[in-house]
Amino acid sequence: MPPKYKQYIFICTNERPEDHPRGSCAGRNSLAVLDALKAEIRTAGLLTEIRSNKCGCMDICESGPNILITPDNIWYKQVAVEDVPEIVEEHLKNGRPVQRLIAEA
Ligand code: FES
Repeated sequence: MPPKYKQYIFICTNERPEDHPRGSCAGRNSLAVLDALKAEIRTAGLLTEIRSNKCGCMDICESGPNILITPDNIWYKQVAVEDVPEIVEEHLKNGRPVQRLIAEA
């Protein structure tokens, strides 16, 4: 069976105590990024094509909030709420990943 959606976005929402040495994506506002993504995707009329999901730690915590867009295999790091409109417009609508946010391998 083919995937239901054209693209899936996984947003790390793992949370750790504030004093944890690695920090966490939730501690860097990833839940607000998730909410902004869902709202922007809805506004863009892409809800039937793109699914946004919470996910657990992807073990690149220091660069969070981290996002994976698949099947594109694009990883975005340090994503802020302010970056969301550009991700939706450029990447999700126009197929041009936002280079300045791509995590180095
Ligand atoms: S807490 Fe998000 S990648 Fe580890």
